[in-house]
Amino acid sequence: MSYASKTLLERIKRDGSITGNVIKVDRFLNHMVDPQLIELLASDVAAQFAEKSIEKILTAETSGIMLAQAVAGMLGVTFIYAKKNRPLTMGAHYAAASYSFTKEESTTLYVSKEVLRPCERVLFIDDFLAKGSTLKAIEEIIEQADAMLVGSAVIINKSERRDIYAILTLEDLQA
Ligand code: G4P
Repeated sequence: MSYASKTLLERIKRDGSITGNVIKVDRFLNHMVDPQLIELLASDVAAQFAEKSIEKILTAETSGIMLAQAVAGMLGVTFIYAKKNRPLTMGAHYAAASYSFTKEESTTLYVSKEVLRPCERVLFIDDFLAKGSTLKAIEEIIEQADAMLVGSAVIINKSERRDIYAILTLEDLQA
């Protein structure tokens, strides 16, 4: 287990909780945020993708934004956060719907055509991967843009998918 994984696991045990497959992280990751922890997690993710010629990072509002920004800074690229409400100022755009099983609600993600360009090499970043519906919507948007999804990284992967880089999986948390 990497230093980042061990540190996060200890932090969850100290300041959060694990109840079945629901992980409480709102004292350091997704409500109150510890920027030093984010930096540590970001350096782990950035090292993983340093050689992949990433050109843009894509996340979805809200909780993926902090990690996306930190990794983008380290890789020297910009990041986009897909919006859950389309502002009036957003003209031509890509859009895809996603249903959150965790929150039992449907949302649409919007990305302006001005910010995601054809052929761009994209890294998707998020805090949790649960059922994968956000990633599926992001994949649709990347396809609409004719861009290229080079990889995906999440802080905690609760799904069975193993093609996604994760700092921790559910097995790590339940061990
Ligand atoms: P999916 O996209 O992978 O299918 O996952 P799903 O919709 O089921 O749930 C994703 C949302 O639920 C995310 O928030 C994510 O942060 C949150 N989530 C999922 N599992 C957990 C968990 O174990 N603990 C906590 N604390 N949150 C969890 P979101 O809808 O994208 O909104 P936001 O919070 O980022 O604004």
